[in-house]
Amino acid sequence: MGDGNRIKTAAVVLAAGDGRRLKSSLPKVLHPVGGRTLLGHVLEALAALDLETIVVVASMRVEEVRAAMQAAGVDGVEYAVQDPPQGTADAVRVGLTALPPAIDRVLVAQGDSPLVTTETFRRLLEEHDRSSSAVTLVTARVEDPFGAGRIVRKDDRVERIVEEKDATEKERALDEVNAGVYVFDLQPLSEVIEKVDKENVQGEYYLTDVIQLLWTQGHSAATVEAPAPEITGVNSRAQLARVGEILRWRVAERWLDEGVTIIDPATTYIDATVTIGRDAVIRPFTFLEGATRVGEGADVGPHARVIDSVVEEGAAVSFAVVRDSSIGPEASVGPFASVRPGTRLERGARLGTFVEAKQTTLGEGSKANHLAYLGDAEIGRGVNIGAGTITCNWDGREKHRTVIEDDAYIASDTMIVAPSRIGKRAATGAGSVVRGDVPDDALAVGVPARIIEGKGDKMGKARDEDLGEPRE
Ligand code: UD1
Ligand code: CA
Repeated sequence: MGDGNRIKTAAVVLAAGDGRRLKSSLPKVLHPVGGRTLLGHVLEALAALDLETIVVVASMRVEEVRAAMQAAGVDGVEYAVQDPPQGTADAVRVGLTALPPAIDRVLVAQGDSPLVTTETFRRLLEEHDRSSSAVTLVTARVEDPFGAGRIVRKDDRVERIVEEKDATEKERALDEVNAGVYVFDLQPLSEVIEKVDKENVQGEYYLTDVIQLLWTQGHSAATVEAPAPEITGVNSRAQLARVGEILRWRVAERWLDEGVTIIDPATTYIDATVTIGRDAVIRPFTFLEGATRVGEGADVGPHARVIDSVVEEGAAVSFAVVRDSSIGPEASVGPFASVRPGTRLERGARLGTFVEAKQTTLGEGSKANHLAYLGDAEIGRGVNIGAGTITCNWDGREKHRTVIEDDAYIASDTMIVAPSRIGKRAATGAGSVVRGDVPDDALAVGVPARIIEGKGDKMGKARDEDLGEPRE
């Protein structure tokens, strides 16, 4: 026991394997699925436990692992380097060297098994306390045990674990498998880990051999059983896809329980990092990714991809891509709109068919209903952006801003050559090319546009008589 009476537990997460079977240049544990990396899911599940420390055992590519975890906001994790990776026992041995003093027991998890829940880790620790065994491990009964280590029992007690490649035909028929998740009392583990050898088909130091070494010293392993899907490890792209599918259902079930309608969970892709308010409706073929938040009663999809964005209550997004942006309450996007980073729609604003916006604010109730490009624009309230309007923000060298003030009326096919400021209640005529500023209440017409003072507010009903121009 460490100081005081509290049992001190540290976790060691094995993440140094090269993942050869994935045929990837990315380290295996950094493959993304369901909105996090494989390792990120494991660390998330561990974060809720009362642990002294978490040590991630990484390969010589530790800096990539560290950077990915930092980017995902994971902190408070230690890293130990296993170079070269020589098997799971070797990885644990390296992990132990990074533990702080006075640790009593060590929880071992695998960075390539992202579905193990906090609940299962808790049950494992509880069973370990209850049974007072030197080791407790997670097992599962699976339909197809191929590839996994098999649990070999003697009179019901776990004697050893045999790896697929080393197993006899009889052992291969065993359907109780090793999840690769264990809790060990530190002291007996430290002793036997040094005795593990590489005398096996793969020539690796197997952590699973520790079970038999402890058995020969009179320690038998306790077990807890987990639901089979939970222990799925990712050794191949096929398993990565399967894990994605399981995660999708998990996430969907969570939001369905919270009062969200998901019309077709099988074609809806919601990252584990997304939040959704009740009575929101998520329609088929929708992707909600990253730090996205969907508000109460919002309606997203069909065919929407929303990345790192906020869709506030009552807003609607259909057939659209929204990235790093914010769609205000009751606002609407699509169909067929592209909302690029830095865009904000205020309450009730609309971006309609074939509209692209980038770094643009569209004020309350303002509308760009059809065919427009709005880049680097600050648009006030009650503004109408006619079909075909373009903010010409790029002069070939630099980007410039366009400001369109409240209640302005931009008629169809207006080219606004930035920098430009269009004043309050000002208007443009169809097809005009506007350079520079248009004062409040003015009307800008023609190519290049002429300025007619005081006529802008007539652009509503009076427009036909004044200009003889067709209504939009
Ligand atoms: C391992 C278990 C197997 C179990 C299965 C469950 C062993 C010998 N076998 O097999 O009994 O059924 O997990 O998923 O432990 N790693 C390192 N350093 C290394 C080798 C591996 O950190 O030198 C890491 C890997 O990155 C991975 C984990 O350990 O996250 C498991 O390694 P892997 O090679 O995938 O083992 P499995 O063959 O899946
Ligand atoms: Ca594995």
